[in-house]
Amino acid sequence: MPTQDQIREALRAVIDPELRRDIVELEMVRSIDIHPNGVVDVMVSLTTPGCPIRSHFQTGVAQAVRALDGVAHVNVSFDVLSADEKGKLQSKLGRGGLPDGALAQVANVICIGSGKGGVGKSSVTANLAAALTAEGKRVGVLDADVWGYSQPRMFGLGALRPKVNDQRKIVPPVAHDGIKVMSIGFFIEEDAAVVWRGPMLHKALTQFLEDVDWGVLDYLLVDLPPGTGDVSMTLAQLLPQAQFLLVTTPQPVAQKVARRSAEMAHKVRLEIAGVIENMTAFVTPGGERFPIFGEGGGELLANDLDVPLLGKVPLTMALREQADAGIPLVMSDPDDAAAQALRQIARGLVALAPIAPISLPVMQAAAAPSGLDVIPPRPKQPAGMSLPMA
Ligand SMILES: Nc1ncnc2c1ncn2[C@@H]1O[C@H](COP(=O)(O)OP(=O)(O)OP(=O)(O)O)[C@@H](O)[C@H]1O
Ligand SMILES: [Mg+2]
Repeated sequence: MPTQDQIREALRAVIDPELRRDIVELEMVRSIDIHPNGVVDVMVSLTTPGCPIRSHFQTGVAQAVRALDGVAHVNVSFDVLSADEKGKLQSKLGRGGLPDGALAQVANVICIGSGKGGVGKSSVTANLAAALTAEGKRVGVLDADVWGYSQPRMFGLGALRPKVNDQRKIVPPVAHDGIKVMSIGFFIEEDAAVVWRGPMLHKALTQFLEDVDWGVLDYLLVDLPPGTGDVSMTLAQLLPQAQFLLVTTPQPVAQKVARRSAEMAHKVRLEIAGVIENMTAFVTPGGERFPIFGEGGGELLANDLDVPLLGKVPLTMALREQADAGIPLVMSDPDDAAAQALRQIARGLVALAPIAPISLPVMQAAAAPSGLDVIPPRPKQPAGMSLPMA
């Protein structure tokens, strides 16, 4: 059997993704109990009770300890650092405390992406937002597609100009049933061509995350642009605890492209929560089934990535029409086949992430992954891009 010290040494492999230090250094290993039958109990202390990275620690600790000779089973349990211990940790980190951003009260951040354009990311985002709201959740939608933004239209918010509150935070426009929406579309003239280069993009997204008054949210859904570019990198850097949902059509080709963005997600260490197949077979009112975009892509991709297939959303005319009408289909016609599928996916998401709003820190820009333009320390007020406010 390994000794306490050997186990402690092995636990140095477990890194807190927010604080970017190992849990031994952070003094988050509360106790290690070694039993004669090869069972090891490890208790890890979290900074907050609802720590969204709990499952990250769970797997990391189990893997690190199980790799040691003589260990047959690892039990991982959690408790919370006392106020005193948190204070100690804060002074150790030497930057005036644990990171604390505008997203402090947002419990779950879910990025909706795909490798390919036009597979329904934005439609899925808007409707999941509506479905999660119907489940009683507080939801925000961040349109991270600065080139082809579509959320203002999907929620019928048109050319609104957001206001700035007393704290100099941008107030997100509120759509049906209280969904908070933020999009570059609120700040630029319709049809104006936007040419974003890396640093500007980074700044705009940082502002959307840090200078927008999101308030208390159970979910912040992020509608990604197609592809695996700068936006995803920036978001991964700003939101290391975000989860990724991959949308694919049933076509094997789309699935291959989606795989590429999965690889990107892995590279930037975003957790993939699952796959959604969209544009699954069209079914006529008479029950005849037309698999217009093929079959099976969602299953293939989910199996390939070893993540759940959260649902299949059929092609329906209503889904397309409602996007244009500015009301998510889930709200206007919850019984439509596509709406039903989306509602079920939302329930699946809730089951996957039963987390209540808690402190969820935002990383500072200084820790940019290589290859990304590092923006100098952010000024206190919205600056640089200076979004025009109402
Ligand atoms: N299940 C569906 N049934 C019918 N139409 C759909 C369905 N899903 C999406 N659409 C339609 O397909 C088009 C593309 O959808 P959407 O804009 O949501 O895709 P996207 O992946 O966000 O695209 P982009 O990559 O350009 O951002 C839209 O016109 C939308 O209304
Ligand atoms: Mg889109």
